[in-house]
Amino acid sequence: MSTSTATAHPNIALAKYWGKRDEELIIPATGSLSLTLDVFPTTTSVSLGHSDDDVVMLDGVALSGEESARVRTVLDRVRALSGRAEYAHVVSANTVPTAAGLASSAAAFAALATAAADAYGLEADDRMLSRIARRGSGSACRSVFPALARWNAGTDDLTSFAEPLDWSGPELAMIIGVVSTKRKAISSRAAMQRTVQSSPYFPAWVDSSARLLERMSDAVADGDVDTLGELTEQSALRMHASMFGAVPPIRYLSQASIALFDAVAELRADGLSAYATADAGPNVKILCRADDSAAIVEGLRSIGADAEYVVAHAGPGARIIEREGA
Ligand code: PMV
Repeated sequence: MSTSTATAHPNIALAKYWGKRDEELIIPATGSLSLTLDVFPTTTSVSLGHSDDDVVMLDGVALSGEESARVRTVLDRVRALSGRAEYAHVVSANTVPTAAGLASSAAAFAALATAAADAYGLEADDRMLSRIARRGSGSACRSVFPALARWNAGTDDLTSFAEPLDWSGPELAMIIGVVSTKRKAISSRAAMQRTVQSSPYFPAWVDSSARLLERMSDAVADGDVDTLGELTEQSALRMHASMFGAVPPIRYLSQASIALFDAVAELRADGLSAYATADAGPNVKILCRADDSAAIVEGLRSIGADAEYVVAHAGPGARIIEREGA
């Protein structure tokens, strides 16, 4: 028996991915850009040589249905590329509440792709790992990389992958405002499908996202935190607007989320540089300069914005942390 263990961290999109052009290959309708964090890692071990089927354990519970099918898709991809056929025993541990819009699936599939490639002896560079991780969960292709990464939408399996971006601006922080750790009512996969199929705003989202991503990439190249932040907030609100237009509508944001967006705007009016974003769940993440994070958390508390705050910074990419056996 041999075991490879990898760890990966969640990433939060500054320019969002919402909507697929190809459901099976997970080719997105838009490119996106994210910050990999230094909190809430997932650790995943892939063992070969003692199973007569794939077994997937997440936080001590055997997965079935859609979630285990997605793991199998990634394992099948690694088996096809490595030319090996053994089944795998996968054990994964999250340190973040699963499916609460805190990007647990991004960390999980980046760690899985990295551990599986190593276990099956596949010589994969980061680009290939990004393409493999993408097949489990689109956003996972960005968690292969540290800090800032851009996922180029591409048009097929070969051309849809993330790559790292350089940043020479001031150190960034992402304050996570946890307003709920409940599992989301609708998966991002189902919600995207419904938005693509029924929201009259979806074409406008795709169209405006392409321009926003170019402007955001320029802001990254310039190390310009404020333009990056303004575009981050725009991208989030436009993504949620596209979901509001779906039939039936999708609303991940709660009253507490909206109150946090308002509180961040209030701090900005007072001269603090802070920008809010939110994903497929009610939790709000606030992008700022690392030097300002303590003042921003204090400001939010003094306004009465009620949440648990976790201050994160740029984190590492996915990597192997242990190997056992031959
Ligand atoms: O990769 P998924 O299926 O978990 O979708 C992620 C979608 C958002 O988190 C809302 C946006 C993004 O780009 O991460």
